[in-house]
Amino acid sequence: MDNKIVMSGIRPTGFLHLGNYFGAIRNYVKMQGEYECYFMVADLHSLTTHPDTSQLKSNVHRVLAENIACGLDPEKAAFFCQSHVPEIAELYLFLNMLAYKGELEKTTTFKDKARLHPENINAGLLTYPVLMATDILIHRATYVPVGKDQEQHLEMARDYARRFNARYAAVFPEPQAFNFGEALIKIPGLDGTGKMSKSENQLATLYLADSDNDIRNKVKKAKTDTAPTTPNSPVPENIKNLFALLQLVADESVVKKYADDFNNCTIRFGDLKSQLAEDMVNFISPIRQKAMDIMNDEKYLQQVMESGAQKARKSAAATMQAVKEAMGLNYY
Ligand code: TYM
Repeated sequence: MDNKIVMSGIRPTGFLHLGNYFGAIRNYVKMQGEYECYFMVADLHSLTTHPDTSQLKSNVHRVLAENIACGLDPEKAAFFCQSHVPEIAELYLFLNMLAYKGELEKTTTFKDKARLHPENINAGLLTYPVLMATDILIHRATYVPVGKDQEQHLEMARDYARRFNARYAAVFPEPQAFNFGEALIKIPGLDGTGKMSKSENQLATLYLADSDNDIRNKVKKAKTDTAPTTPNSPVPENIKNLFALLQLVADESVVKKYADDFNNCTIRFGDLKSQLAEDMVNFISPIRQKAMDIMNDEKYLQQVMESGAQKARKSAAATMQAVKEAMGLNYY
């Protein structure tokens, strides 16, 4: 076992989708046997954009259940809830002194969310990247499995680690976004424009909780053009997306058949979409059913959160001791 530490998190702001799976969870499952792993339900992060907490408990349970249904093993990884680790709030306070307003205001996710919710541009939203850096640095993690949308946050986490180390003492390693030797990915929406998302773009997003019919209907509605008439034509963006999705869930030979059909102008986009729909159904439906069973077992979810928090707090407390020593905050 490599002694590298892995950390990542998912906000409980809605149903998980294929982007979460292929951008993040798939890597959690691959990494949990190889490294010391901390995986977290980022409930505090969700408060920056979702102040209504009436659905929070069931959303937290859903994130736990869907991750476990995808293969995350809470015996192998610490799987916990952010608000159960109070050390995070403490380190967040310290790191806020190392973060500057100007750079926080320039963060892409801040600008996007501020544009989307002009009525709620709160300080927590502005300092979102500081909280995320805290989640990572509190476990002194170096590998952070995430999708492409989190790249800038990782850069900021490295900045804060460097600043802390330079100002006080070398406590933090510099964390890197991780995707098993490949570039970070962004799973596109079925409409060929945005990305799959928990709370936006819902008709173009395939959720792990979608019924077989939901999946078939959404895929059927994906926009396609008329089939190519010239061999080896350039592939339009929306068709590229369908191929990208097919590649995730279908056998290589199936993808090759449709690529060949496209290139020799015999492709029927209706067939491509039916194929994609059936492969998606085969992929998603066992996860959905497993997640439903786990969701119904609240006692088990409770145990997962408790034992996860215990492991996470142990690691966080050790870091906080090093942090306070470095900062000269130990007066006893
Ligand atoms: P969140 O909850 O938006 O997404 C969870 C994970 O799923 C990935 N992801 C995608 N990957 C590929 N294609 C997509 N369409 C797609 N949509 C989402 C995200 O990149 C992420 O890995 N700020 C984080 C949560 C967080 C966190 C952390 C992550 C809080 N603390 C510490 C890592 C480390 C977020 O909002 O992810």
